[in-house]
Amino acid sequence: MALVSWSDQYRTGIASIDDAHEQLFNLLNRLQENLRQGAPVAQTLTALKEHAGRHFQDEEAHMAASAYPGLDAHKAEHAELLQQVQAFQQQHAVQPEAANPGELGVFLVDWVLHHILGFDKQYADSLKAAD
Ligand SMILES: [Fe+2]
Repeated sequence: MALVSWSDQYRTGIASIDDAHEQLFNLLNRLQENLRQGAPVAQTLTALKEHAGRHFQDEEAHMAASAYPGLDAHKAEHAELLQQVQAFQQQHAVQPEAANPGELGVFLVDWVLHHILGFDKQYADSLKAAD
């Protein structure tokens, strides 16, 4: 997996969301560092899943409050990330040699970058358009 670097292109303009996204980048980089060192990833993944879970709830509440029409599709995307992390953790618990944290890391980076640039920006743009 690659390192991610936070930059303005990822900003939605909603401060609470941007702060949570920046923290998500930090957790992805911690995961990448674990992998680079051949260190265990369990703690980082738990932290990432907890942070993402809380952030997704906040984001979905924000969307529900503004009656955002894309809420259901957005929720399904969020659920996909959490489900993938959980599937990895379950596999790691029963068959650690078959669980591939590098593969999960590649998925997570790809998901986060595309999700922010696509789904989250679309939401932010719809809010600005409604102003
Ligand atoms: Fe989102």
